[in-house]
Amino acid sequence: MCDPGAVFSLRPRIFQLEFELSRGRTAVIVGAQWGDEGKGKIVDVLTQTFSVVARYAGGHNAGHTVIINGKKFILQLVPGGVLRPECISVVGNGVVIDPLAFLKEVASLRAANVKVDGNLFVSNRAQVILPYHRMMELGSENAPGRVKIGTTSRGIGPSYEDKMGRRGLRVADLLDTQLLRTHVENACREKNMIAHALFNSEPLDADKMFHEYAAAAEELRPFVRDTALLLNRALAEGKSIVFEGAQGTMLDIDHGTYPFVTSSSATSGGAATGTGVPPTSIDTVIGITKAYCTRVGGGPFPTELLDAQGEDLRKRGNEFGAVTGRPRRTGWLDLPLLRYACMINGISWLVVTKLDVLDHLTEIPVCVSYKVDGSEAEEIPAQACGYEKIECVYRNMRGWAMPTQEIRTVEGLPAAAREYLSFIEKETGAKVAMISTGPDREQTILVPEFISALGLKSQQ
Ligand code: IMP
Repeated sequence: MCDPGAVFSLRPRIFQLEFELSRGRTAVIVGAQWGDEGKGKIVDVLTQTFSVVARYAGGHNAGHTVIINGKKFILQLVPGGVLRPECISVVGNGVVIDPLAFLKEVASLRAANVKVDGNLFVSNRAQVILPYHRMMELGSENAPGRVKIGTTSRGIGPSYEDKMGRRGLRVADLLDTQLLRTHVENACREKNMIAHALFNSEPLDADKMFHEYAAAAEELRPFVRDTALLLNRALAEGKSIVFEGAQGTMLDIDHGTYPFVTSSSATSGGAATGTGVPPTSIDTVIGITKAYCTRVGGGPFPTELLDAQGEDLRKRGNEFGAVTGRPRRTGWLDLPLLRYACMINGISWLVVTKLDVLDHLTEIPVCVSYKVDGSEAEEIPAQACGYEKIECVYRNMRGWAMPTQEIRTVEGLPAAAREYLSFIEKETGAKVAMISTGPDREQTILVPEFISALGLKSQQ
């Protein structure tokens, strides 16, 4: 019998980078861990030369912090490209959109003089989150006997459930007042009965909901487009597109630590279905990883630190959720998972963020492989309980024990930090493209090879 391990390994695969990127004007930015890797900042840096940014999955469960005119914002639905007025920002069909949350975000952007008219578009095929989705989520998260996922309570999962159940409301339907009324009445009747029977929830008022969402629809209308057409036209005109992923690989509905995942395709494959741009038009995938690991909510986390060291990483990295404020769980870098993320997404470039959080350490443990029952395990478990059998094998890397926040070139980094990055490259087969050493735009080291491959202008 054929042994797949003999012909295919999760160990490094060397990509034909130059060939791949010489025609590459589209790139997917994907989280290589459990989200919160710092994708927002990287999208912001890349939009210097990309014309369009398109979100393809998730909803307002995502969040990244940006500073505009000295004011702090948390962008949840609006793509990071909106901060550059010349850039077109698209909320794709794979996103679930809470119209009230979207309009609130738009209002706060307008108040800060950020351009949102004529440069921000929402897919007419995106699914709409309605109040009963939150009601169902709150009920089921707290119901006895249910696996507690620790969701963001934004109604994301129930909205995707309705999408797949073919009973969802799409943005185009939201704009159709008659259809909206019928949908809200029917859906409320059904959800109220279910929520009452299962969770003893208070019923929602369909009439009130209809009027609130009909008004929101009118405010939303100017943003709505057939964004698949818009994006494919942009491509035909030679425009470059960044596909902005939300969450991360290990939260992907298919490839993550199921059932402790979000309800969408967070991995790079989702960029095609979530925007209507064919996979043949996607040139490269850039994975974002922290120099260590974090996760919010429940579920497996092999390298988790449940001690003072973990608490220290949380404090130094300010690891608290941007959306819910929950403390993030912390742990060492997990190379088996990173290799898995590279395989699933086709990552050719890696961006390593929050390197500075490790600045104080003289020694940095990194998980290099997993063992199950004493033997090396190359497969990532399909079941959440499979992670319980994993024993992490660590290698202690040399720490650099000096500040890196002001360093702007790879050569300027301490030798031990360069060793750390080279080790990641060697173990994953992906090339390090950028290194982030602090929250500001300038605290970014761009690797020259990456700058020329993507046609970026150097900031340094
Ligand atoms: P949901 O996406 O709200 O359904 O939550 C499902 C799981 O994904 C929970 O563990 C959340 O904490 C996690 N999650 C959702 N969005 C994010 C994110 O943007 N960053 C990190 N974790 C997230």
